[in-house]
Amino acid sequence: MSAVIEARDLHKYFGPIRALQGVTVEIPEGLTLILGPNGGGKSTFMKVALGLYKPTKGTVRLLGKDPWRHPEVRKSIGVAFDPGRFPKLTTGREWLEFIARTRGANPDDVEKAARLFGIEDALDRRIDGYSSGMVKRLSLAQAFVGEPEVVFLDEPLANLDFESVAEIVGIIGKWKGRGRSFVLISHIWEPFERLADYGVVISGGKVYLKGEFGEMAGEIAAMFRPPGTDTAQNSK
Ligand SMILES: Nc1ncnc2c1ncn2[C@@H]1O[C@H](COP(=O)(O)OP(=O)(O)OP(=O)(O)O)[C@@H](O)[C@H]1O
Ligand SMILES: [Mg+2]
Repeated sequence: MSAVIEARDLHKYFGPIRALQGVTVEIPEGLTLILGPNGGGKSTFMKVALGLYKPTKGTVRLLGKDPWRHPEVRKSIGVAFDPGRFPKLTTGREWLEFIARTRGANPDDVEKAARLFGIEDALDRRIDGYSSGMVKRLSLAQAFVGEPEVVFLDEPLANLDFESVAEIVGIIGKWKGRGRSFVLISHIWEPFERLADYGVVISGGKVYLKGEFGEMAGEIAAMFRPPGTDTAQNSK
């Protein structure tokens, strides 16, 4: 498989807002964790990589292809956006069947994906009656319908209790073990520490850090420590 994403000098502006300002990164197969501060450009980067937004400048390849010139490449990709938003009056089943059809998957895949995330009993209820955890599970099921080659998840652990966090991380780990690639955006990185192969930190619309996750884990841990709690500093 080619790199999952190859971005070169990627810019995305929304009027005066410069959400991406020259992102160059090659995201390999495996599990990549994208981290960074609120408003840093992570979700914008994901949307440009998916071909949801057109770049203002620069290029992006998704599985080796320009997603605008080769829209069929999007069929190999499952996506969960954050926050997950769905048509309220629709049932979970109607929504997942719609996603399955657009991806060329078959309706049996809907039950499978719903069972994977424990929402099979809620499938025939309207989404506006779901709890926030169930909405998150529905958005995860949407990303896994039809077992795509690459799964993009924006904040997969938001709104989940701690048991659910362990469960979802376990599912991602199992699927990674079956050769699927993941691009995850998360503010909570520790649960993915052992699964992550590659890491990218996006801040102020630029790549602040990138590389093998194991080699950057120390720097990432330091970024999440409140100022003044650096042990090396304190011992001086
Ligand atoms: N469609 C849009 N129109 C206008 N501005 C946008 C749009 N999408 C994103 N932005 C702006 O671009 C910047 C980057 O936003 P983005 O959502 O990519 O950040 P993020 O890193 O995902 O943040 P968070 O951690 O809060 O989700 C922000 O200033 C945001 O307000
Ligand atoms: Mg975001």
